[in-house]
Amino acid sequence: MDQPHPHRNPMPAPALVATDISKSFISGIVKIQVLNKLSLSVLPAELTLIAGPSGCGKSTLLSIMSGLQYSDGGKVVALGEDLTGASMGELEKFRLRHTGFVFQGFNLFTALTAIEQVELPLNYLGVGKHEAHERALEALREVDLSHRANQFPAELSGGEKQRVAIARALAKKPQLLFADEPTSALDASSGSTVINLLHKIAREHRTTVLCVSHDPRLIQHADRVLAMEDGEIRRDWRTESDFDINEHLHATKGIH
Ligand SMILES: Nc1ncnc2c1ncn2[C@@H]1O[C@H](COP(=O)(O)OP(=O)(O)OP(=O)(O)O)[C@@H](O)[C@H]1O
Ligand SMILES: [Mg+2]
Repeated sequence: MDQPHPHRNPMPAPALVATDISKSFISGIVKIQVLNKLSLSVLPAELTLIAGPSGCGKSTLLSIMSGLQYSDGGKVVALGEDLTGASMGELEKFRLRHTGFVFQGFNLFTALTAIEQVELPLNYLGVGKHEAHERALEALREVDLSHRANQFPAELSGGEKQRVAIARALAKKPQLLFADEPTSALDASSGSTVINLLHKIAREHRTTVLCVSHDPRLIQHADRVLAMEDGEIRRDWRTESDFDINEHLHATKGIH
């Protein structure tokens, strides 16, 4: 007999809920309405991809849903907490405790080795030195980079740098992981390694992963895809992706 789909029966409570989010920017004398009463909810423990053309408002939406930026109107509830009325300090605390970020430009410190990059946020969280080191090593192992632990960013390829950034986010064991164009600076092979790592993290760590990208190649690797256009969600569908990241990492070793 078929097993019921874990997300359909019963439907888990969403990890992120945005309701009627509006956001506009003033550019000179022109007001640009980027998000127009947009609503969506993101289910836990899966990779949700928001895909859409450049300029449609993906990064703006991601930053509002992750507590990096305020909306003009509407409400965001993340892990049951209402972020809408939170102060900047409260949002910072929320992000430190519950979220990890992966960006297009990797955002690594040039003077730190791979393992030091991963240890850094754990130090901020007050994790002891020994435990931080062990957790950082484990996170690097998970992205298949233990052998690069002592390299500096300048000595790593783009794909490897992004995997360090993922390890840094992962070591915090966040419930929410946000990725903005995580594959845009990478070639196709490194890009697919990265998106599949994010998928694996969602499945194996039960992390809610919200990724935004204009790269349609990522669609097949997500559990759910929301197509965005002109500040609105136009389509919302599920894929049946089942990709073995360990096989993929093994097959592409040496290419990065
Ligand atoms: N801080 C800002 N000030 C003024 N305009 C902004 C600001 N941030 C974003 N915008 C405008 O809002 C619109 C949406 O930007 P956003 O970065 O969310 O798009 P995007 O979908 O992420 O695009 P891309 O795929 O190129 O990253 C754009 O027209 C952009 O110029
Ligand atoms: Mg963007």
